[in-house]
Amino acid sequence: MAEKLYKESKVELSPLIAKHYDRIMNFISLGKYERFIQRAIADMEISESDHILDMGCGSGKNAALMAAYLGEDGRITGVDLSPVMEKQFKEKHAADERINFTRQRVDKPFDLEKQYDKVLISFVIHGFPHEVREAILKNAYHHLKPNGKLMILDFAEFSLQEMPWHHRFIFTTVECKYAFDYIERDWKSILQQFKLSPAPEKLYFRKYARLLTASKN
Ligand SMILES: C[S@@+](CC[C@H](N)C(=O)[O-])C[C@H]1O[C@@H](n2cnc3c(N)ncnc32)[C@H](O)[C@@H]1O
Repeated sequence: MAEKLYKESKVELSPLIAKHYDRIMNFISLGKYERFIQRAIADMEISESDHILDMGCGSGKNAALMAAYLGEDGRITGVDLSPVMEKQFKEKHAADERINFTRQRVDKPFDLEKQYDKVLISFVIHGFPHEVREAILKNAYHHLKPNGKLMILDFAEFSLQEMPWHHRFIFTTVECKYAFDYIERDWKSILQQFKLSPAPEKLYFRKYARLLTASKN
């Protein structure tokens, strides 16, 4: 397993959790996760010719859904630090030349020597200390074309204190302390500080999840 830099993070997955991550998400969402991801990816308004960078891409499940919107000129690059995710991603997309994978940390500066129309960060950025999230945003910004779109699919903004107790119980049991901080921040203002202009958000799962889109100025 790659070195775990943030001891309390729950997005730096163990090999066992990484292997079964998609099944686990479906189980804890009572089978609703699949449909939610399909809706969110439909809301990304992917064009046939889009080149998409998927930072913290996991097993390649999201890439498979995005690829359905691409034509032959479209491309997806998946980036993840997990060898277990790499194996699943490569097996899933071995036959599709439009999709490739790079093993890479996204929390340290990196350069793929390419800029993309869209950068997706799906259920990754909440799981880090805030200064690390800023490093991830810088990497995303660096890899966006002018007018390209950053798409953060993750938790929405809400208050732990105002959640019904049974939702709070599940959230605080499943999630790490970084996520508790993530949900309380004003992400549209944060993105503006990074010269990214937010568009109207899309909300899912009783408004606990959100697709936040912002254009590179
Ligand atoms: C919660 S999973 C989400 C996977 C996928 N994006 C999805 O929505 O299904 C978090 C993913 O981020 C990856 N990850 C965690 N820390 C990372 C880092 N520093 N650099 C790159 N990938 C990372 C994990 O290996 C895992 O695949």
